[in-house]
Amino acid sequence: GHAPRTTPPMNHLTSWTDLDDATWRACLDRALWHRQHRAWSQSAAAKALGLVFFNPSLRTRASMDLAAAHLGAHAVTLTPGNGTWGLETRDGVTMDGLAAEHVKEAFGVLSRYVDALGVRTFATLTDPEADAEDRAFRAVVDASTVPIVNLESARWHPCQELGDAATITDHLGGDVRGKKLVLHWAPHPKPLPRAVPNSALLMAARLGMEVIVARPDGFGLDADVLDLARDAARRSGGSVTESSDRVGALSGASVVYAKAWAGSGVYGSPDHEAQQRASHADSWRLSSDDLVQTDRAAFMHCLPVRRGVVVDGDVLDGDRAIHLLQAEYRLHAQKAILEWVWGLGAEG
Ligand code: CP
Repeated sequence: GHAPRTTPPMNHLTSWTDLDDATWRACLDRALWHRQHRAWSQSAAAKALGLVFFNPSLRTRASMDLAAAHLGAHAVTLTPGNGTWGLETRDGVTMDGLAAEHVKEAFGVLSRYVDALGVRTFATLTDPEADAEDRAFRAVVDASTVPIVNLESARWHPCQELGDAATITDHLGGDVRGKKLVLHWAPHPKPLPRAVPNSALLMAARLGMEVIVARPDGFGLDADVLDLARDAARRSGGSVTESSDRVGALSGASVVYAKAWAGSGVYGSPDHEAQQRASHADSWRLSSDDLVQTDRAAFMHCLPVRRGVVVDGDVLDGDRAIHLLQAEYRLHAQKAILEWVWGLGAEG
């Protein structure tokens, strides 16, 4: 038989928590370099990148395709269930439903076509064990014989994380240690996963910032994620605290990072969680008045964002908002990530 192409050891990017701080820092510096130089190259010529989106995307889809193009690689994008067979991720199930193909075959095949795979598999928000274990994403990693880049799993969004770290470092001018970042819970009509707030928390802790997670009671992040962030903060000289006092948290902030996420009741009592979430719609929506008490804070959001629900439109239209720069940095960060995945020497 034909042996799949493998180059052990493989540089998977499943979560930055699996990698050392030096790797993260080198990729961060390289993302900053890419924005300054905006270089197109052929450093990854004759390489192919597969992108598989089990969930919708604007930024990740466009910026990963273009990151590959900037390096001279070719990207192929597939959307399971939409022009591509529906894919089963669970092990041992009888496949008599919508999914025509299992990820074991699909990613086994794709591994023979491409040199790395980017994959998006959101949290179910119905199966707490599957989400805590990042089970769908792990199934894809297990089925693949080429490096995998996580394009947002149930737990983590490492491409967002690196782009966000570069955005803050660039915008605030280098060393951001000791500056205050408020990770601010925001209202939303739907329960949303926690991959982005988890990653934003780790990112700010790793940068050595004073991080406050401002959220209503019932919307705390997972204890194990907070522990990982506190470990990162200990290494970097930063700090991580939680507060349900949003006004107090915002005082003196340099960065306000807004994000909606589901409450902890979403798995066991979704109706109650929805009621709780709706009850905070007015009191937690960010307005330009909220930014007055900050230290002229930059406003960040990973996007997509609902105007008038998460944040008032005048904040997004105002001069403190850096959400478009933040989205731009996804391109630069992912060029750095692909270079690391493929072991390409930095040319700058
Ligand atoms: N922030 C982010 O990942 O955007 P998309 O979901 O549009 O890719």
